Amino acid sequence: MALTARPHLRRRSKLAIVGAGAVGSTMAYAALMRGAARTVALYDINTAKVEAEALDLGHGIQFMSMAEVVGSDDIAVCAGADVVMFTAGAKQKPGQTRIDLAEATIGLVRKVLPSVVEVAPDAVFVMVTNPVDVVTYAALKISGLPPSQLFGSGTVLDSSRLRYLLAQHTGVAVQNVHAYIAGEHGDSELPLWSSASIGAIPLLDWEGRGGTGPLTATVRDEIAREVVESAYRIIEGKGATNYAVALAGSRIIEAVLKDERRVLPVSSLLDGYYGIDDVCLSVPSIVGAAGVLDRLPVPMSVDELSGLRASAAAVRDVARQFGY
Ligand code: 2OP
Repeated sequence: MALTARPHLRRRSKLAIVGAGAVGSTMAYAALMRGAARTVALYDINTAKVEAEALDLGHGIQFMSMAEVVGSDDIAVCAGADVVMFTAGAKQKPGQTRIDLAEATIGLVRKVLPSVVEVAPDAVFVMVTNPVDVVTYAALKISGLPPSQLFGSGTVLDSSRLRYLLAQHTGVAVQNVHAYIAGEHGDSELPLWSSASIGAIPLLDWEGRGGTGPLTATVRDEIAREVVESAYRIIEGKGATNYAVALAGSRIIEAVLKDERRVLPVSSLLDGYYGIDDVCLSVPSIVGAAGVLDRLPVPMSVDELSGLRASAAAVRDVARQFGY
């Protein structure tokens, strides 16, 4: 019997990744390993690099869920994508902050994003390049896309760093630690301790078990500091961060492509969130096929709220400096 098209089968999902550097190509690998998309398209201006990455990834498909990988220096490779991860941009050098990259990255977004939107107008766009909150705000203005359709990867990664450290301290599996980092993906970010829990126990009531101590204010401050310093430490040691950010990206991709409605702290345009407006910042949000569907009014302590407002002011300040 001849093979015929089976229109009843689910439409194939397409992920496009702009930028085939350490973050973009590792994100492609993570998404393929997790079977997140049927087609993974990589775009980069470096022809040799993007073709080599696609080839190397393609050679591994036998060992993963069925997928197709394409790589090109032609933006048309992104055509018809369901989700676009924007990872292209300047590389953070040891000693540099994410904010130091703003000018170069915004310039790149201005140059590249409109043509990606042209070939994939219905995609959900996720900005990953740093400083991600400022870049997301600028990208919204540049593209004219609705804020639900374009957002940033925000503090999904920082929150997983926080959970990792809390899991280490408490001896509980990281999957049973529920805690978010909110605010800027950067130096002014803050942990939302008052809503965090371990299993079903509020984190602030955690007394320590099995030889581990309680999460005192000193321990919490130390953990928060370590989260902020994580990227600096990794960049110092190996020049870039790639694995965890790629997995965090894949989590967002799956939430969109499978319409999972996951609660993820992505960076989106806030409009009256605890009185915060006109800035892209991470707060726990519901992410599904249409992008950011809602932002959750997580209960916050007075200190957390003032920390979030200070973070909003810091990010807004940088955006204004660059004319956004
Ligand atoms: C990270 O946090 C550098 O933003 C990147 O790993």
